[in-house]
Amino acid sequence: MLEPLLEVALDLSANLRPYERYRRLIAVARRMISCDAIALLRLEGEVLVPVAVDGLRGEAIARRFMPREHPRLAAILDANGPIRFGDVAIPDPFDGLFANRGDVLSRAHACMGCPLIVEGEVIGVLTLDAIEPTAFDAVKDETVAMLAALAGAAIHTTILAETLDELAVRNQLVARQLVREALDRVGGELLGMSAGMVRVRHEIEMLAGSDLTTLITGETGVGKELVAHAIHVKSRRRDKPLVHVNCAALPEALAESELFGHVRGSFTGAIDHRAGKFEVADGGTLFLDEIGELPLSIQPKLLRAVQSGEVQRVGSDKTLRVDIRVVAATNRDLSEEVRAHRFRSDLFYRLSVYPLHVPPLRERREDIPLLSGHFLDRAQQKLGVGQLRLNVEARARLRDHGWPGNVRELEHVILRAALRASEGRRDDTIVIHDEHLGIDSTDHRVGGPTAPAVKRSLREAVDAFTQDLITTTIAECDDNWAEAARRLGLQRGNLHRLAARLRHGS
Ligand SMILES: Nc1ncnc2c1ncn2[C@@H]1O[C@H](COP(=O)(O)OP(=O)(O)OP(=O)(O)O)[C@@H](O)[C@H]1O
Ligand SMILES: [Mg+2]
Repeated sequence: MLEPLLEVALDLSANLRPYERYRRLIAVARRMISCDAIALLRLEGEVLVPVAVDGLRGEAIARRFMPREHPRLAAILDANGPIRFGDVAIPDPFDGLFANRGDVLSRAHACMGCPLIVEGEVIGVLTLDAIEPTAFDAVKDETVAMLAALAGAAIHTTILAETLDELAVRNQLVARQLVREALDRVGGELLGMSAGMVRVRHEIEMLAGSDLTTLITGETGVGKELVAHAIHVKSRRRDKPLVHVNCAALPEALAESELFGHVRGSFTGAIDHRAGKFEVADGGTLFLDEIGELPLSIQPKLLRAVQSGEVQRVGSDKTLRVDIRVVAATNRDLSEEVRAHRFRSDLFYRLSVYPLHVPPLRERREDIPLLSGHFLDRAQQKLGVGQLRLNVEARARLRDHGWPGNVRELEHVILRAALRASEGRRDDTIVIHDEHLGIDSTDHRVGGPTAPAVKRSLREAVDAFTQDLITTTIAECDDNWAEAARRLGLQRGNLHRLAARLRHGS
């Protein structure tokens, strides 16, 4: 039961967009509690604003709720912890907004809510609804309270990040500080004594002494981001910013302004001057992560900036010189992308001045014991438990597994196994067994939206299945939509449309 919560807790420290953070939180909540609708609302002044909803019609997200008009929301805001509503006389704030059977839900159904309290202050609410009136009878208050605590932390993190963001834009020093903190967080040491890793470390040393543009390639989870940080930290630019741009998360319409900045009034929403990532990285390193996902339309402009070292803010006719070193990373085969006309060949050649390939974990199994030991230490610190050890079978299992998710998968497997093995134990030494690794069970999802035995049409069943498959695949791909689309055999745009249609239930 703790596992999904751990995922959310880990997400909090990850560099996710707020929307993604909330969406993942809600997905986890639905896996833990079987319900038909769930909503996370943030209190902004007097108004409750939905930041993530599931099982409600799409328009719910655009609604604003005044607590005094919605007695249930007012009661949740006043409560100290989870509360349940049985009285059908008190209207539900989401009446008419439920994606399924709106009319049924508005009569008798199960409803729970919990205020989100951070440092003694109420900052929002979490609500859960189910068609089946007894659906929440077995749900413990503590479970909901824990979800609410995490939701509170997620919203709090966003509020802090927003404040920091504003400062960072005004003041490059703050940006630099943030970068340092991010660096500390990444922790940076590239472990491994295999021939493959020794070669990678050697190449890093060599590249760090130069300003060569570097393209880091390798499967997901092999450590590309860690390599990029190592190059920066060992280079003469180490005291200057390392600016991370996740190309997969750049919305096409805003990409140019994100990269190059804009001047006030250059487009709707450009309320102030803003520096782009190129400018912020001046003197340092610009890390273009997931470069294979960069929209084609932006590629020529990026190429020009990389080639000339000059950028122009959107809406300005002034050019600015920047001194940056470019490091890019991708888990795609870019030459294949070029052949398929999804990536421009001129940009590809410009970026791959020095290609650095990080080998998959299955090609350097000698590193598994060392990496496992490192992750066991980290798990021990994180969980505050006794010495963690692997028994012989567990070690053999780790050695023989295929590791499609590479080092990241190993890290997660060990953390989960440590959690399972140490549950309820205070021993000085905790031994992790083969079963704790959960490597062979292909499906360890708990319940899920399709769980309750409700009669429904084929279309509804197919939609529920599709939605579940999409959610799981996206989670497995660490929120990389492009990768998820590839695994599902869909175009990325179509995946977005399909997901939106299913979410909005139309
Ligand atoms: N050699 C290593 N030593 C220690 N930790 C490592 C090593 N390689 C990877 N890791 C850890 O594994 C996780 C995944 O690494 P990273 O994020 O760099 O992968 P990636 O190649 O960028 O993956 P993706 O393509 O999915 O973005 C991180 O937590 C990282 O710290
Ligand atoms: Mg990465």
